Amino acid sequence: MAVPDLKSVRRHLHEMPELSMLETATAATIDGWLKDLGLRTKHLAGTGVTAMVGRPTPGRTILARADIDGLPVTEATKLPFRSRNVGAMHACGHDCHVAGLIEAARNLVARPPERGAVKLFFQPGEEGANGMGKCIDDGLLGGPKVDAAVGVHVWQAEPVGRIGLVRGPCMAAVDQFEVRIEGFGGHAAYPHRSTDPIVVAAQVVTALQTIVSRRVSPFHQAVVTVASFQAGTAFNVIPPEAVLRGTVRTFDPTVRRHVAREFKRIVSNVAKALGAKAHVHYEFFLPATVNDLAMTDLAWSVAEDVVGKKNVVASEPSMGGEDMSLALEAVPGVFAFIGASDGTRRTSFPHHHPSFDVHEDCLPVGAAFMEGFVRRWLGEAA
Ligand code: NI
Repeated sequence: MAVPDLKSVRRHLHEMPELSMLETATAATIDGWLKDLGLRTKHLAGTGVTAMVGRPTPGRTILARADIDGLPVTEATKLPFRSRNVGAMHACGHDCHVAGLIEAARNLVARPPERGAVKLFFQPGEEGANGMGKCIDDGLLGGPKVDAAVGVHVWQAEPVGRIGLVRGPCMAAVDQFEVRIEGFGGHAAYPHRSTDPIVVAAQVVTALQTIVSRRVSPFHQAVVTVASFQAGTAFNVIPPEAVLRGTVRTFDPTVRRHVAREFKRIVSNVAKALGAKAHVHYEFFLPATVNDLAMTDLAWSVAEDVVGKKNVVASEPSMGGEDMSLALEAVPGVFAFIGASDGTRRTSFPHHHPSFDVHEDCLPVGAAFMEGFVRRWLGEAA
């Protein structure tokens, strides 16, 4: 079976989104296409797929990565190729990443790099499941040893036809917390005989706002968001506890540790001052995604070849997270933003929105950038 063209690959995958780490049909489809290209595939962490192109030479293996998972979102577009899996959607554009890497693979197979090799990597579980970490634990960066890495994300913040790059940190570190405020429940009419965890938790939420405004230098970035506040069951009962959940985003590792310390200090002391007890679970989840400076320079020149000088721009970093960060922590590399919006309403919905869609002209741009970067890093002219 011949591997379909770029647009058909994207549309085919768009119809069959699967949730993180459950991408069985997606992985099987990708596996089939890679085999049709004459490649030998290997599976990692269940639904991850890799294949090598070229001849591994010490110091000359580059990882080219595309994430493959969809989101638990019910698609609201009217596209003829909209999701057939109710409750799942390619609402972040990972279908485009797979299509781009399959196209790059086809071209790399047709004219393999002369020295060195590309490890094609179709990564499961990017959406909060740490699929990259799982695949690294399963040997992704070895056999042969990976020396560099490249990945892309289709990007609504940039117009289609543009490639955006960030020198240094491009996406934030992602941490998460759960705070359980333990009070003392009772009758809502006799609050003085209780310790009301709702009032305490409300004060905690307010006090947490001072971390960014009063504890982090204005020259650094941080986000502290309480995204969930749960307490109580009835209008006349003071509950025994309240639970807060949320996320912290930072770029700088020192700021990251500082925010974590301030967070714990504020939560426990505000609770204590009001006679309650706080149980804090704070997890360092993913580091910031950091583009290597030399690799960004290389990416810049490759991008100029793909879309022309005036269409390569310095993008604003994102407070969103990416588990590509773990690969870029292990080896130098770059994560590029591929402009995907044509300015119309249809392609302007934010990532993860039920109406998310891209302008498909972003597909050849992503594919050409991946192929071009790999070739250039391996020392070939474009
Ligand atoms: Ni994404």
